[in-house]
Amino acid sequence: MKSQENVRNWYDKKGVECLNFFEKSQENEVVQIKKILKYLPKKAIILDVGCGIGKPVVKFLTEKGFEVIGIDISKEMIREAKLNVPKSKFKVMSMYDLKFPNKKFNAIFSFFSILHLEKNKVPSVFEEFNRILKDDGYLFFSVNKGKEEGYYDFFGEKVFFSSYTNKEIKEILSKSKFKLNWKREFIFEKGNSKEYQLYYFAQKSPN
Ligand SMILES: C[S@@+](CC[C@H](N)C(=O)[O-])C[C@H]1O[C@@H](n2cnc3c(N)ncnc32)[C@H](O)[C@@H]1O
Repeated sequence: MKSQENVRNWYDKKGVECLNFFEKSQENEVVQIKKILKYLPKKAIILDVGCGIGKPVVKFLTEKGFEVIGIDISKEMIREAKLNVPKSKFKVMSMYDLKFPNKKFNAIFSFFSILHLEKNKVPSVFEEFNRILKDDGYLFFSVNKGKEEGYYDFFGEKVFFSSYTNKEIKEILSKSKFKLNWKREFIFEKGNSKEYQLYYFAQKSPN
């Protein structure tokens, strides 16, 4: 898929620079995770989809004692992640092609990663999330708010990116059989950049 080739190459080249720029925004990911820790079983198995360099999410969850697997489409991101969190498992894998058995995970985390998917393919990716989650498993993810879809200049090179309205996300969740527990909205500002960020904490609905 052309958009995926673009995203993979972009992160191989620009990923470290980009994720360093968003360090403050990533700190908020940990603040949000702390709010949902109480729902996770002590021995939870967690998948971080689009884990980037493994910091802060995989690192934080591993230090909390969970078994965490991080996957990312970019081999450079996975290379960095392995250096940052040597105790955890990482794999180069696309979320369009999840190679995990049914009902393996207690929770899936995916912060600012599904925004690199083509919008019309997101419901089937979420159906796959649903398949690999245990009954009542959790899906915690974030996107940017907006109505974009296409190739946008970012850090000097074009990358495929989509932003979402709350209505779109709610439709995707209900199509893929998730119920929404809560949603939060934040503004992230740095330099000339201003982002409206949406966080969703959802749970697999009983069949
Ligand atoms: C904005 S970064 C977010 C990284 C990390 N989740 C965080 O919040 O710091 C998006 C990540 O998603 C990954 N990604 C994009 N498309 C993907 C796909 N189809 N499958 C797996 N990872 C993907 C990118 O390589 C990149 O590491």
